[in-house]
Amino acid sequence: MTFLLKRLAAITLLSACAIFARAEADGAWLNKVPAKEHDKANPYRNQAEAQIAGGRIFAEHCAQCHGKQAQGDKKHPSLHSDRVQQQATEGDLHWLLVNGYMSRGMPSWSKLGNPQIWQVITYIKSLH
Ligand code: HEC
Repeated sequence: MTFLLKRLAAITLLSACAIFARAEADGAWLNKVPAKEHDKANPYRNQAEAQIAGGRIFAEHCAQCHGKQAQGDKKHPSLHSDRVQQQATEGDLHWLLVNGYMSRGMPSWSKLGNPQIWQVITYIKSLH
């Protein structure tokens, strides 16, 4: 009997963990960004051409998860949020795109190249 109860407890705990693992994005990645990266400036900041180029990159690589308008869905955060638009600096976003956050399902985009990463950041920051 105690054996059964223990198993039941273990199963309950496991499913609780599974639910937790699928919880909404909570911005924990922001705490991982080193100060030096946080303050990095976007060389394309507010530049119209970079915004257009970034929009194309977004449609090709990001929209499949974050949605065509970056509106997000149940499993993928919206990029219109205060966290992405206000709280995160462009340097923070650059760090996230270079490193990814694979344990939470966000891939690294370092293969795109540095100019392209800054362009997609210009696009994201133009959404607010
Ligand atoms: C395979 C699906 C997938 C793709 C493709 C993807 N992302 Fe993500 N992204 C995620 C997930 C899942 C998270 C949430 C991570 C977490 O829990 O913090 C995320 C988080 C983010 C965040 C932080 C959002 C927040 O609220 O903290 C930004 C910004 C972001 N992604 C931008 C991009 C950009 C730009 C691209 C394209 C270059 C991209 N993502 C492609 C899955 C994806």
